[in-house]
Amino acid sequence: MGKKIIIVGASSGIGKAIAEQELNAGSSVVLLARREKSLEAIAKLGNKSKEKRAFPLVFDVTKFVSAEKTFQKAVSLLGGLDEVYFASGVMPEISKEEYNTEKDLEMLNVNLLGAVAFLNPVATYFTKQKSGKIVGISSIAGERGRKGNPVYNASKAGLNTYLEALRNRLSEVNVRVTTIKPGFVKTDMTKGLTLPEKGLLKAISAEEAAEKIRAIVASGKDEAFVPGIWALVALIIRNIPNFIFKKLSI
Ligand SMILES: NC(=O)c1ccc[n+]([C@@H]2O[C@H](COP(=O)([O-])OP(=O)(O)OC[C@H]3O[C@@H](n4cnc5c(N)ncnc54)[C@H](OP(=O)(O)O)[C@@H]3O)[C@@H](O)[C@H]2O)c1
Repeated sequence: MGKKIIIVGASSGIGKAIAEQELNAGSSVVLLARREKSLEAIAKLGNKSKEKRAFPLVFDVTKFVSAEKTFQKAVSLLGGLDEVYFASGVMPEISKEEYNTEKDLEMLNVNLLGAVAFLNPVATYFTKQKSGKIVGISSIAGERGRKGNPVYNASKAGLNTYLEALRNRLSEVNVRVTTIKPGFVKTDMTKGLTLPEKGLLKAISAEEAAEKIRAIVASGKDEAFVPGIWALVALIIRNIPNFIFKKLSI
């Protein structure tokens, strides 16, 4: 029997690619995000035969009070639950001297608080079940506070710490929590950016990222960079002393 999976942020990019690959692999998937048409188009993949395995469900992760109800509905559509991916995220463009509270609060609401509001009921469910996997899509951007987009960095650093704490708590009840830290991935989020096309740090497709993420999750790792080369980048940037880091325009 295929796995029962919820993907939050399944309408585009990395979440969509994971959803498509899981549907092709025979899993049943609840697809959550705001864009209904995109979710319905992806769901067609899992609903070709009489057996219905894809369930689109419109959900805005910033509607915190409806997170638990949406989660319960997703579980009842699937008739159980094995894995949850939280892939929702936003990264609005922030110019050099811009301090924009509206954009900053949106990043915190989607990337961090949205994850907390949705994954808390997931943790409660998996604790009772004594099994399950939670996967959070964070970012290399959570490793240091950089000049470009301070609150994107902060939202991902917060997500990393929340996921680590969940992992430590839930390890006592046989539930795995994996933190995924991608580097450059070609998606709607990075459309306006000039990403490297060549070299060790070249941007990868959402499909390639999804394949790597699913392999990491299957291996049971606690956390991983995608692609793996970004682990070296993280090691280097984490060890740059503050007085030097301050002067770098990265
Ligand atoms: N692309 C990269 O280079 C990169 C690198 C590191 C980390 N990441 C992380 O990877 C994750 C996926 O991003 P992506 O690159 O695949 O970008 P994307 O194509 O823009 O996907 C973002 C997803 O988040 C969902 N989302 C945004 N706001 C939401 C809300 N209020 N409620 C529910 N869902 C919401 C979007 O769905 P709707 O708009 O339909 O709601 C969409 O499905 C993000 O967490 C991002 O921070 C990306």
